[in-house]
Amino acid sequence: MRINYLDNAASSWPKPPEVSQAVARCIEEYGANPGRGGHVLSMRASKTVYQARVKLARLFNVKNPNDIFFTTNATMALNQAIKGFLKPGDHVITTSLEHNSVRRPLEFLKKNVGVQITYIKPEQHTFPQASIQEAIQERTKLIVVSHGSNLLGTIAPVAEIGEMARKHNIAFLVDAAQTAGILPIDVEKMNIHMLAFPGHKGLYGPQGTGGLYVHPSIDLIPLLHGGTGSHSEDIDQPATRPDRYESGTVNTPGIAGLSAGLDFILETGLERIREKEWMLTKHALQKLKEIEGITVYGPGIDTERLAVIPFTMKGIDASELAYILDREYSIAVRAGFHCTPLAHETVGTKETGAVRISFGYFNEIEDINKLLAALVEIREAFVI
Ligand code: ALA
Repeated sequence: MRINYLDNAASSWPKPPEVSQAVARCIEEYGANPGRGGHVLSMRASKTVYQARVKLARLFNVKNPNDIFFTTNATMALNQAIKGFLKPGDHVITTSLEHNSVRRPLEFLKKNVGVQITYIKPEQHTFPQASIQEAIQERTKLIVVSHGSNLLGTIAPVAEIGEMARKHNIAFLVDAAQTAGILPIDVEKMNIHMLAFPGHKGLYGPQGTGGLYVHPSIDLIPLLHGGTGSHSEDIDQPATRPDRYESGTVNTPGIAGLSAGLDFILETGLERIREKEWMLTKHALQKLKEIEGITVYGPGIDTERLAVIPFTMKGIDASELAYILDREYSIAVRAGFHCTPLAHETVGTKETGAVRISFGYFNEIEDINKLLAALVEIREAFVI
């Protein structure tokens, strides 16, 4: 049976066919080390990596592609940004919708370095940007906001928050784990100083890819120190970018695949991708509400949100529901707490967790209709 994949917020699948072709071509034709040799194959690998940087710069309106660094995922990018930027005694403002990839590094710094954190609490349907303004103190050095909640699909007003950060001379870090390749991101217009993104979600690249943009005015303490293929005689980590933040051999085959994913995004256009995902989301929101016993969380249908929908079904545990959908219907969803316990607290699913469905460009209305039919059957067979 064909798998009905509704877990694109965890990792997008399927990918455009060009992605796996590019990965295979890299391994088969030029699997050399980029930036570590002058021979033809190494040069070709370097070119592939640089071209991916250029495409990312185009997508996010970054002036210098070398201000974008490749990481293994958004988590590593966020750790680099947070741990490399904050110093003892600094105050940081963030939200209760953040993923553990933001919350855990911040809480680590709170315990070990004395960084202070204020969590703004968005409501289920709204994002209280005024609370960010109110939380600003003399020692506030950083605002960290998830562009789109991985649980609720809530979209943060990043342009407005960026403007606030600019006025107060505070650095602004955006976690684009759920929005890169889906919503427009312009680091210049939105006053974003650091942007963390995964390669394997909305950008349709392979897992093990991601990156971080850092404004040229910000110097982070590198998370990793080591070989960069440059300034090898120097005992210190080089200051030149991107080498400063890219110790060790990068994932060239993965980046080749990411580059093909970026071609797909740039050719298809964000508007078309977003339109398709919004059409699927509206359909799912409307129809889920018609099923007795289902509660849907997050912004309503009249508010722009991501193609990420959490729900619970009365009388059945979320994990059990996900298990039945997988085993009996070949429908892949994610259940549990989605690495974001505070967001679950916001909507009252802290104890129970929820089932989350999330769509990508390659989903169709039919996939949602199959899910809806399965939910009706499950309710009748297992719950009532
Ligand atoms: N952060 C990813 C998710 O929300 C893995 O599922």
